Amino acid sequence: MEYLRIKGQQKINGTIRINGAKNAAVAILPAALLTEGIVKIDNLPKITDIDKLVEILKALGAKVSFSEEHLNIDSSGVDNFSPPPSLVNKFRASYYLMGVLLGRFGQVKIPMPGGCNLGPRPIDQHIKGFTALGAKVELEDGLVKIKAKNLKGAHIYLDVVSVGATINIMLAAVRAEGKTIIENAAKEPEIVDVANFLNAMGAQVIGTGTDVIKIQGVPELGHAEHTVIPDRIEAGTFMIAAAATKGEALVAEVIPKHLDPIIAKLKEVGAHLEVGPDWVRVKGNNMLFPADVKTFPYPGFPTDLQAPMMVLLTQAPGTSLITENVFEGRFRHVDELKKMGARIKLGGRTAIIDGGHELVSAPVRAMDLRGGAAFIIAGLISRGETVLAGVEHIDRGYEHIEKRFKQLGVSVERNTISNEIFPGK
Ligand code: EPZ
Repeated sequence: MEYLRIKGQQKINGTIRINGAKNAAVAILPAALLTEGIVKIDNLPKITDIDKLVEILKALGAKVSFSEEHLNIDSSGVDNFSPPPSLVNKFRASYYLMGVLLGRFGQVKIPMPGGCNLGPRPIDQHIKGFTALGAKVELEDGLVKIKAKNLKGAHIYLDVVSVGATINIMLAAVRAEGKTIIENAAKEPEIVDVANFLNAMGAQVIGTGTDVIKIQGVPELGHAEHTVIPDRIEAGTFMIAAAATKGEALVAEVIPKHLDPIIAKLKEVGAHLEVGPDWVRVKGNNMLFPADVKTFPYPGFPTDLQAPMMVLLTQAPGTSLITENVFEGRFRHVDELKKMGARIKLGGRTAIIDGGHELVSAPVRAMDLRGGAAFIIAGLISRGETVLAGVEHIDRGYEHIEKRFKQLGVSVERNTISNEIFPGK
């Protein structure tokens, strides 16, 4: 089993080039199944969710090859609409295979998706969209079976602002007959990136980035080349780490507009920020101020940076509040942070942080991707050396996380050990 060893009281000091966005890439790869043409995708992050998706594409009959930084996918030979369950239920984004296989073949058989445990993660809005497009959806012994003679465009009003449902319905609709309108759609930049890739293949999608998306179905799609946008969540993680360690980071090859909520909140907490055309420099400040953070769908403060932000606020003297409005179960990192001396009280969707107290290292376990990143930041600022288990969660969304932090001038070591140090799973 792998774990990270993080020396305490280190200061971030360095420059880092941000990788392609995980939450765009995990939809763009399945979207390659929608075309009989050949696609070339650049700037994919080297993370395990992408590795798993490549395995699934190959298992379905696609030809996948790597050349320098690009991935080439030829799905012309794909004739299977039942992805291997062993691969599918390991991560959440496998649900995009529903939309693409339904769009390509008119049917799909797939287990319910896995992924981080952030509380209940239903897919009722995805199913609402597929049903509106004319598909029949059955749940049978843990498998979702979806079938449609032919998909017809529909006017769909989402009950919940959902990134996954917005993308999944878009994927199924691009080859449906006629026009589809998705209202109350999510507006995340990753959704815009997926639509840009679909349109490069010949789809007709307009309105992404707003809450009304219109899709005119087309009978087939062609070749395309696409470069994935930078990962605003990876960028935000390193920006918060710089502020928390009172160090300095130049975060390069970003789209600053996507970072607006993080830039605003870090300024409020007292960090010094300089914003360039495609970079942001963050300088920590010895004096940090408490703040109130409310997570909301884009352009609100991203729920994926809630845990890292919580670590930063444990260092700001005074009382800070974090309200998690997107996922009801996204405070699983609080107990572990309290083991490190953080003073946090939970009340429903709100965490009350009594900040300004030193953290002390302790053996902690990551239970989800972003909580894992938060513990690295906590380890860097605490007294002593922190041992962090559950690295496989971090590897799902951060490429070679220990090497990335090394580029920022701090030492995070990856080790392997048997289970005796961390009994239990
Ligand atoms: C995506 O998850 C991201 N994952 C998450 O990032 C991110 O936290 C989340 O969007 C919010 O931005 C990927 O893109 C692979 P949602 P998703 O559907 O699509 C409820 C990370 O760390 N809901 O926008 O699963 C849901 O329970 C991951 O990179 C329904 O009720 O999120 C939640 O409360 C973690 N019914 C809210 O909507 C549905 O059918 C938002 O979920 C779908 C969602």
